[in-house]
This record gives sequence, structure tokens and C-alpha cells, in this order.
Amino acid sequence: NAYKIAVIVGSLRKESYNLKTAKALIGMAPETLSFELLPIGDLPLYNEEYDGASPEQYNRFREQLRSFDGLLFLTPEYNRSVPGVLKNAIDVGSRPYGQNCWDGKPGGVVSVSISSLGGFGANHHLRQSLVFVNVPTMPQPEAYIGNAQNLFDESGNLTNESTREFLQTFMTAFENWVKVHVKKPITA
Ligand code: FNR
Repeated sequence: NAYKIAVIVGSLRKESYNLKTAKALIGMAPETLSFELLPIGDLPLYNEEYDGASPEQYNRFREQLRSFDGLLFLTPEYNRSVPGVLKNAIDVGSRPYGQNCWDGKPGGVVSVSISSLGGFGANHHLRQSLVFVNVPTMPQPEAYIGNAQNLFDESGNLTNESTREFLQTFMTAFENWVKVHVKKPITA
């Protein structure tokens, strides 16, 4: 019995540092949280005209999203903001009007970048959208993972010890955040 957490990664790259960080975090999952990657790369670009008869990918994504209790976002920074693919997923999940699938699900944000700034701009642009779609997003600890090219080995394993310790701390706080803000209790 665990809360189901959707892990949403804003990079489509196979060798994505955000994906590698997501996998490291999933490997630290406490018993009360079960994590699952929720793909966003196949969603057609959002068009409001689709609200009447939505593409199959939209329906599947929205249905999947509804089945989760919480959300963990990992985002790269593209030109000081979130990649379009991630913004697109947020838009798709928020519509049709009145059927916002994100509503009330507790969330966490991690930004991962090759820059030492750690994707600060993307992290906060994402938070701006999450306010509007009513995702109670954990404020602390903030997670800006910089210099990502130095943190993993060739197989994609997180080898940087201080980053690992930080992510453990993040995970413990996130577990607590989910417990406090989740809409429904764990069912047997
Ligand atoms: C970047 N990158 C980047 N990095 C950053 O810290 N701030 C930025 O504004 C940008 N802008 C940017 C724009 C575009 C179009 C690309 C492709 C890249 C670099 C980025 O941090 C790097 O490519 C990461 O490796 C992307 O994350 P993934 O794919 O490894 O998860």
C-alpha cells in the first residue's frame, strides 16, 4: 500500500541527466511511495480545438494522470524556462476547462542542468504553472542540481555522494509532503 507518484521528466533524451536523476530518486523510494515514469513525449501540441474530440494520446494521458496520488517533476532548463514538451503536458492535463487532471495532487520539483545554476529559471517557471493548476508544490528543500555532467558514471548511475545525500533528504521531505497534502488516504 503506497501512494502512486507520477514521475514526469521534461527531457526526451535517452541520455538525459534529468532522467538519470529521476531513476536515482526512484531507487530511493520509501515504502509509502511507489514511483512510475509517466511519458509525455507522444502528446501532440495542445490545440484548444481538440477539447471537443481529443486525440487518443490526450485521453490516455489524462486517464493515467487521474490514477496518481502525487507528482514528481524533473525539468531541464531551456532558455531559462521549461522545455516546451513539459509545458505542453501541463496544458494537455489541465483541459478541457473544468477537468483539470492535476488538481490537488501534491508535487515536487527538481531541476537538473549542466550549468552551475542548476536550472533555477526552469524550476520557478514550472512552479508558476503548478500554482495555476492547483498542485500544492513542496517549497523546501529546493532542488537545483547543477553540473550534471559530473554526477553520473558511464552506465548512468549517480556516483556523486553529496548529491545522493541531498536527494535522500529531498525524498524524505517529499514523502512527508505527500502524506500531509494527499487528497485520499492509502486504501488497502
Ligand atoms: C539548454 N541548456 C540550458 N541550460 C541551462 O542551465 N539554462 C538554459 O537556459 C539552457 N538552455 C538550453 C536551451 C536548449 C534549447 C538546450 C537544448 C539546452 C543546456 C541543458 O542544461 C542541457 O542540455 C541538459 O543536459 C538538458 O537536460 P537533459 O536532457 O540532460 O535532461
